[in-house]
Amino acid sequence: MDDVIVRAAETDEELRQANDLMAKAHFSDYWEGAEWVGPQGMGYPGFRREHVRIALHRGQVAAALRLTTDTIRVGEARLKMAGFGCVTTDKAYRRRGLTSLVMDDAMHYLREHRFHAAMLFGIPDFYHRWGFATALAEYATVIHLRDASPETAPACRIRKIKPGDIPAVQRMHAANDEETACSLVRSAAHISNKWARWENARVLIDEKGRVTAYLRGRPDGTDYLVDEAGVAGYDACPALIRAAARLARAECAGRVKFLAPPSHPVIRHLLAFRADHAMRTDRNANGMLAVVDTGEALESLVPEWERLLAGGAGGDAEVTLVVDRRPWRVRALRGAVDVAAASGRNKIPLNARELAQLIAGYRHPEEVLHDRIPPSRGDGPVFLRTLFPKRVPFVWAADRF
Ligand SMILES: CC(C)(COP(=O)(O)OP(=O)(O)OC[C@H]1O[C@@H](n2cnc3c(N)ncnc32)[C@H](O)[C@@H]1OP(=O)(O)O)[C@@H](O)C(=O)NCCC(=O)NCCS
Repeated sequence: MDDVIVRAAETDEELRQANDLMAKAHFSDYWEGAEWVGPQGMGYPGFRREHVRIALHRGQVAAALRLTTDTIRVGEARLKMAGFGCVTTDKAYRRRGLTSLVMDDAMHYLREHRFHAAMLFGIPDFYHRWGFATALAEYATVIHLRDASPETAPACRIRKIKPGDIPAVQRMHAANDEETACSLVRSAAHISNKWARWENARVLIDEKGRVTAYLRGRPDGTDYLVDEAGVAGYDACPALIRAAARLARAECAGRVKFLAPPSHPVIRHLLAFRADHAMRTDRNANGMLAVVDTGEALESLVPEWERLLAGGAGGDAEVTLVVDRRPWRVRALRGAVDVAAASGRNKIPLNARELAQLIAGYRHPEEVLHDRIPPSRGDGPVFLRTLFPKRVPFVWAADRF
């Protein structure tokens, strides 16, 4: 297409047009969408106007997307991540390559700003072109109210959340999420920014007045859907289950459905109950991760790799990850790991999409690379398994973009 300019939104008018286009395409309630991309989105921690990327055709915004910038955890490692949201081309311009141009431009912007990874929740068979691979599963644990009565639940008061509870909620969330990979590292500002979506959450208060648990729920057909919960410790789980059942009963729901990963304490606690635990995986769709800058991403994993090696048998080891034909040597010497853009021993060819899945811990390394690691190759396979253990990657509904 001629006369197309692709870049960041610069003027107020470009931003207004881009926000309008995104709100109309992505929300059944336009005003909710306008708030999401407008005041709320622009007040999101770290937001900059240049995070809205647009294609302009003769002065009109014909395609747009917005980036949100966050930090994600992978064990001890912290990765600089950008989330793609509201990717849209105006109906009149679709299938003419505009979103492709805006995606190319956004990926270029992220590389320039040394992001490690990018994430999105996407339509099928579209985003693989930019290196995105499905790397996040969905989880649901369902318990019938008749099965949700813990025999011993400490007496707790339940009340609506207040802004003053944010630090306690944030602390519980961070502690509960330690074993969840790819989840966003939240600050209090992340919750305040989305307060409209939090203000109906509930907190549980023990007899000493401490906040010991929280949950965010709403009726959903015959279920009471809890898309986030947290506890100060395992001993708060029975009261939390009882509170969820009480709220469900008040809404005439027959079941409570928790949308939380199996690594979360509340879901672990539910293993002692009669419940249905479901995991939904996808292919080339939904929760996807891309490695933006391979060197930076591998470098950012070093603290986690050193922790993993400290817990293992130790010893020196080396592997060369040949990512899309470019070698990256990962070497452990006396427990210290270094990454270099160089060739070395134990070469394993893989592509960037496979690397994204391995970093997230979404798939087992032996399964992804089984046809590329001959079993007799010395320390390589063991080292590779240590570097990329199976994890539980998940992003909470409240954090999605
Ligand atoms: C999806 C959407 C952004 C595509 O925009 P577009 O400008 O038409 O996309 P492009 O013309 O750049 O298409 C790029 C490629 O994707 C393909 N494609 C386009 N729309 C697609 C879709 N909905 N699903 C799968 N593939 C699609 C094109 O055929 C093209 O393939 P090619 O490179 O092999 O020729 C646009 O249809 C849209 O705004 N839809 C409504 C909002 C939406 O669903 N956004 C995605 C949210 S995750």
